[in-house]
Amino acid sequence: MGKLACQQFSFLFPKCNLGKRDDNPIKLSLAHDKSAGIADRHISNHHERPPMKLSGKVALVTGSSQGIGAAIAVRLAQEGADIVVNYHSHPGEADAVKAQIVALGRRAVAVGADLGAVASVNQLIADGAAALGQIDILVNNAGVEKNAPFWDVTEHDYDFVLNTNLKGPFFATQAFVKHLQSRKAPGKIINISSVHEDLPFPHFTAYCASKGGLKMMTRNLSIELAPLGITINNIAPGAIETPINTALLNDPVKLKALLENIPLNRLGKPADVSSAVAFLASSDADYITGTTLVVDGGLTWNYSEQ
Ligand code: BGC
Repeated sequence: MGKLACQQFSFLFPKCNLGKRDDNPIKLSLAHDKSAGIADRHISNHHERPPMKLSGKVALVTGSSQGIGAAIAVRLAQEGADIVVNYHSHPGEADAVKAQIVALGRRAVAVGADLGAVASVNQLIADGAAALGQIDILVNNAGVEKNAPFWDVTEHDYDFVLNTNLKGPFFATQAFVKHLQSRKAPGKIINISSVHEDLPFPHFTAYCASKGGLKMMTRNLSIELAPLGITINNIAPGAIETPINTALLNDPVKLKALLENIPLNRLGKPADVSSAVAFLASSDADYITGTTLVVDGGLTWNYSEQ
């Protein structure tokens, strides 16, 4: 082995003769630290996948037949979790997501539910837990929005938005917490909220009310659930390329105006959100609860003058 390699990998080959220059203990420890960095990079570049963060866990992702939810379901499976895929109106797409997860070597089940009906939500948690043995992570992702001037909002549209975006997460979380209590198990809850839990969005008042409500639900429950070993956090995506944005994506004038408001100058991708979920669902985030992680390319705080 050459002298250079011997120095770089001295911690792997302690019998290397490093020569007189490196006999100084201070220099030796520096060489060790430096070579460890080089060796680590060498290993991760060529051979080993990073360790999976969620092995042995089961995650339920509401609204995971498409968009951000589908990306979250697949990403959590890549981290080692088995997945309960949930859908409302797209069973075919849910099956396709399930197939992607199974292809990763994980278990998956697709369960339909109406998140606006408490009995259906309870059934979702019960069926998911029965199919995969347990649920450890709940991602309240399903969400809808309706664009209308305030004075034109109908009762039907108000109920549709509030039921899906707030009532659903409320009772799914309740059923999930009861499930965890029955197992005396810890758990993690991640709500996919929006920058509009804080930021006004004219013509989307019911949507903003639902997301503001979700923010306060998270803050409240972080306190109530902490003694049970359960954390709860929100992720607040900005403008992400998903079906919820189809109208906007097809309107070049509105799209240009939006991009001018995003400092990173692009729409987000579902993967930008799913990586944040993987973090909050993992033990890396054990000390984080009651807060919101904003994933918006800088949209929220963008203000420029002159
Ligand atoms: C909404 C999108 C909107 C984005 C940024 C999201 O919560 O669903 O319609 O483009 O916020 O304003």
